[in-house]
Amino acid sequence: MAKEIVLTGVTTTGTPHLGNYVGAIRPAIEASRQDNTESYFFLADYHALIKCQDPERVKQSRLEIAATWLACGLDTDRATFYRQSDIPEIAELNWLLTCVTAKGLMNRAHAYKGAVDENLANEQDPDFGITMGLFCYPVLMAADILAFNAHKVPVGRDQIQHIEMARDIAGRFNHLFGERFVLPEAVVGEEGSILKGLDGRKMSKSYNNTIPLFDTEKKLQKGINKIKTNLLEPGEPKDPSDSTVFDIYQAFASQEQTADMRQKFADGIAWGEAKKELFALVNGQLSEPREKYLELMANPAHVEEVLQAGAEKARARARGLIADLRQAVGLVNFK
Ligand code: TRP
Repeated sequence: MAKEIVLTGVTTTGTPHLGNYVGAIRPAIEASRQDNTESYFFLADYHALIKCQDPERVKQSRLEIAATWLACGLDTDRATFYRQSDIPEIAELNWLLTCVTAKGLMNRAHAYKGAVDENLANEQDPDFGITMGLFCYPVLMAADILAFNAHKVPVGRDQIQHIEMARDIAGRFNHLFGERFVLPEAVVGEEGSILKGLDGRKMSKSYNNTIPLFDTEKKLQKGINKIKTNLLEPGEPKDPSDSTVFDIYQAFASQEQTADMRQKFADGIAWGEAKKELFALVNGQLSEPREKYLELMANPAHVEEVLQAGAEKARARARGLIADLRQAVGLVNFK
């Protein structure tokens, strides 16, 4: 049976935090170990340029994210791991898809609409500060996915619309030029895969409430100490369902450990104590990959080699498809 192709990308603008690890990195690496899937994971560095015009930040983030995935145990013999910008086939497909994408479809994209609404709210021109990169973001994302004919695309909730647009665009191309593309499906993690941040909202760079994944042990401890708690005293029972400390604990704990902690909450564990236990648990799981991460960050040439090999593998797959698409649209050689 043909393997199911699973593909996902990470925009390279930030530094990975615990929420990225629990929500995306850990489940993706676990899934890539299954025999019935073929995984494609990539650094969406073209997408990064849409949001970030700071070359140093883009450069640093690409390295940090690559080192993070490798340190967390991604097996690059199994999964294909590459940078989007190393695959010219994606850029080429981006154009072929742009030419069949309705402008009206792009008008409906949440990210674009959000930017327009903000301009209107600020009594500015609706187009103020909006680049064609932002407007066409979903087309490039469709190219990422369709270049490998991915079946399943694990993403956060905010990206579901983009996968639906990729399906629309693929369907349009198929209709015009014959069945070439698989229609991809979004896969959204369960509720439990969204970690809470310091303030109790979803952990996210945009809320400035994150705990970094591979900073020093001290910083991890400091981050955990900053988690907001209520004013209940030691000895007073605490509600695990309303606690970020418990939420993060559970994301790293076995079922037994979780049950134990639930009991401790009922018994009125002090917040300081609960945070100590949380730190011990998380740090225990992160200290080995943290060392690996630091080694990789100190050896960018090695990371480069791994990514170059990944790009070769990815391009070998995409090349055949692009050649076929060129034929389909009429870009054929004369002899
Ligand atoms: N837009 C995605 C995000 O911000 C990242 C991304 C780019 C992506 N291309 C993709 C995800 C293709 C899945 C498939 O999260």
